Amino acid sequence: MELSRRTFHALAGTAALGFALTGSGSPTSANPSRPAPTGPPPPVPSADGRPHEIGFDHHSLIVDGRRLVLWSGEMHPFRLPSPSLWRDVLEKMRAHGYNAVSAYVAWNHHSPAPGRYDFTGVRDLDLFLRTAAETGMYVILRPGPYINAEVDAGGFPGWLTATEGRARTSDPTYLRYVDEWLTAVNAIVAKRLFTRGTGTVLLYQIENEYDAHVDEPSGRAYMSYLYEKVRADGIDVPLFHNDKGRNGHWAPGSFGTGGEKGRWLYGFDGYPEPDEVPPDWGSFGTGGRKGGATASPKTPGFVPESGGGWFDPWGGSWFDGKGYAEARRTRDAAYERRFYLTNLANGITLHNVYMTYGGTSWGWLPAPAVYTSYDYGAAFDEARNATPKLAPMHQIGQLLRFVPDLARLNRGKSVRAADERIKVYHLANPDTGARFYVLRNDTGEAVSSPLPDAGIDVPVTVPARDAKLIAANLRLGRRTLVHSTVQPMVSLTAGRQDIAVFAGRRGEMAQVVLECADEPTPMRLDAEPAWSWNLGKLNITAPLGAGGLSRVRVEGDGVDTPMLVLFADDATALRLWPHETPSGPLLVYGPALLRSAELRGSTVHLTGDTTGATGLEVWGPRGITHVTWNGRPVPSRISASGSLLALRPLPGVTRPALPALDGWRRRSGNPEAEPDFDDSDWTTADKETTFSTTPVPDGQPVLFADDYGFHYGDVWYRGEWTGEDGIESLSLAYSTGTQGLLMAWLDGEPLGTHRMPVPGKDRARQGTWTAKAAFDLPEELRKKFRAERPETGRRRHVLSVLVRRMQHDMDGEALGTHKAARGLTAVTFAGGSPEVKWRIQGAATPDPVRGPMNNGGLHGEREGWHLPEYDDKDWKDAQLPRADRRQGVTWYRTDFRLDVAPGVDASVGLVLDDDPGRAYRVQIFLNGWNMGQYINDVGPQHTFVLPNGILRTRGANTLALAVLSDGTTPSGPRDVRLALLGAAAGGVPVTAV
Ligand code: GAL
Repeated sequence: MELSRRTFHALAGTAALGFALTGSGSPTSANPSRPAPTGPPPPVPSADGRPHEIGFDHHSLIVDGRRLVLWSGEMHPFRLPSPSLWRDVLEKMRAHGYNAVSAYVAWNHHSPAPGRYDFTGVRDLDLFLRTAAETGMYVILRPGPYINAEVDAGGFPGWLTATEGRARTSDPTYLRYVDEWLTAVNAIVAKRLFTRGTGTVLLYQIENEYDAHVDEPSGRAYMSYLYEKVRADGIDVPLFHNDKGRNGHWAPGSFGTGGEKGRWLYGFDGYPEPDEVPPDWGSFGTGGRKGGATASPKTPGFVPESGGGWFDPWGGSWFDGKGYAEARRTRDAAYERRFYLTNLANGITLHNVYMTYGGTSWGWLPAPAVYTSYDYGAAFDEARNATPKLAPMHQIGQLLRFVPDLARLNRGKSVRAADERIKVYHLANPDTGARFYVLRNDTGEAVSSPLPDAGIDVPVTVPARDAKLIAANLRLGRRTLVHSTVQPMVSLTAGRQDIAVFAGRRGEMAQVVLECADEPTPMRLDAEPAWSWNLGKLNITAPLGAGGLSRVRVEGDGVDTPMLVLFADDATALRLWPHETPSGPLLVYGPALLRSAELRGSTVHLTGDTTGATGLEVWGPRGITHVTWNGRPVPSRISASGSLLALRPLPGVTRPALPALDGWRRRSGNPEAEPDFDDSDWTTADKETTFSTTPVPDGQPVLFADDYGFHYGDVWYRGEWTGEDGIESLSLAYSTGTQGLLMAWLDGEPLGTHRMPVPGKDRARQGTWTAKAAFDLPEELRKKFRAERPETGRRRHVLSVLVRRMQHDMDGEALGTHKAARGLTAVTFAGGSPEVKWRIQGAATPDPVRGPMNNGGLHGEREGWHLPEYDDKDWKDAQLPRADRRQGVTWYRTDFRLDVAPGVDASVGLVLDDDPGRAYRVQIFLNGWNMGQYINDVGPQHTFVLPNGILRTRGANTLALAVLSDGTTPSGPRDVRLALLGAAAGGVPVTAV
């Protein structure tokens, strides 16, 4: 239940009337009659059909003549393979105060082969851009061509790893492919530019963290080339680059050609460690080699990536992934306040948090560094749930939207707190005189201190390792805030009253001082607030969070419009939803999410989510007397605070029950290991040259999988020879990404499994991921060789090798290492020197819907065993867990039905769990979609999010598990179950993918 004491009060009509004006004295000055300098919040962007101008100065972007602070969050549509859910995430971001979404576009996700580009289905970039425009979000688009982003090869398509030319330079072959990609992607983007009014794409990034050839002509020529190409494709919004680490790389004028001048922004990224003192990156100091934002004094402070969490590596090694709860714990709400408020204090007015919704690196998308989940510890978790990390994002985002004074700040005169453990940044708006103080406490204990320099003589509290922003001399509606000890969050006019919201930590005593020349007659609408009036100042205090929202109405002070002052703690503020409508803004209190608000006649139609029963209260434009919630009328009355107040709580959600997974069927899946397996249609591996960065070992054919067109997932080799029966051992050199492995069979007998060792802390070894698997032939096999001689005396032998190659190197340093070999590299024998004829087999032709990264080359994948339509009736029934020890691949399938009620957004995950001693791994296919890889003895991931759309929440689903076990332990899996990761009444309509 979310029903707070406050809601009960209001429902019961017991809101108390305020009284007891304390203090003395009479008005000393007339009411301040400064015009409201701020006006309504900036228009919500949409594809409105009108041309728009995007300019900037060193303070901020200037869009159609108005300053705009960009409060953006990163999400990757390619990490959420269900287009309907893009809307869900974007609506949630928008409601929580974000006005922009930043998105990489991954070349590899769209291109299965040179010249082939796919923007349909889960790749529908145009749909993503349209959805962003429909949800009122600006878009910062980042199509690379190189993106990094913890994706395979940093976003380069697999096929590019087998082409000539040096990527990330002005190499002509590479640029030819880049042209292909940019032409394809820009054709879509050009139709959705905000400048044209056909979309909301506001900014566009070229390359990413490109610092390798920055001082070389070829690097500059490359960047100039990209710039000119993007312009030639009709992209006329400002362009920028994301400088790795505040070095001043690619500031305006640095290309050497001058081409980028004028419409080019400088941006840099930062991923501070939680225990760092937040660095000054802009007008307040010098961060980085050339001073962060100060490297580009004529462009606004721009952080295209400010760390909002961190990616998590595989477990079981020195870098030991701990799971995303850890990232969310160490980079929590207080982290966000400390670092992001410091960013704002440093003049950063274009601020993007990487990630805001991390999502899933499904299929073979993840870079070697990471596992399937890319949750990132972000403000929205992978299952699309809002986390407590949204509290600061929401409060700061709404503040930036509703208090435009923050868009033009200069450094104010130096102000110190009486207790100098609080660091103070003083900022002032030269036009309005508004002042802001960012107060940061880097110590381990809460500090309370007055700020006498700022005329604040009551103590302001900043919790340990936390920060807050307070304001002074700030116009709020028709009144002026003298100062506050808590952060302002919203200022708007709804109907006949101005509303100001202040938010802070639970238990904090908030103090808000308003200029009030005439003695007011405040009305206490809730029990907590108290006030006094003295010398033209009204001093309101309220403990935060005592019972939900605390309301006071200020009136009778000679100003014709009353002002409602609302106090909220973090949790309460997360249930307050300001929303713009064409007839003016409204403020909604209660539900877990407000998605939309539409005024028709005297009714306001709201849509959104509830997770528990909740009150509903709406302050809206005049004349609104009725309210609906998700299409249903809500009986309501007008409250003492002028709101429309629901007479009964909105219902919460009934959590759907999930079925147990049983009825498993099983089939073993590595016939390639059998000597008589027919490999006549496999590709002969006999090339002699390669464009890989891995040299071809002497005397060996090229065995690298990419050279034969197999770029993702597992690859099989079969080496055949006759004679040479005295072989005693063999050595298989191979190369994979992190957690790769190799399994070998000779004449159908398992030789063993070799796991790619995790390199030590030695950086030089990291990223190489090469090893030699040495196998001695077991005595029985040798005996067999000797005994079973055919009449010719020359026996045929087959060495079968399965390589789980994992992914291509991400090549952040632009060294070409995405072209490092994957698969076998060399095979040598002791006790004989056979002439081996090699054949190779990998993934079949890419699935036209699920794309090239969905599958590798397991037999079952090639035969469609992962697909829902596959008929498995001749498979054996199986109980989990299986106790046998067997090297190889075993497939399991089951079907299950879900019956989630319409109107319920259930987020479901698949959980795998077992004794961590068992050496096996599982590829998870839901309805044919590769939802990731579980490695039982490595971890840390156990829960795999199954996105609705791929998951049929009302209907039948097929789960297929491809289990690779190394034969040294009993194989798994043991526990396989569905888990409810989130549930809300509401959600968005979901179309099946
Ligand atoms: C940044 C990079 C991103 C991503 C991030 C770490 O430096 O630009 O693409 O890799 O680091 O998650």
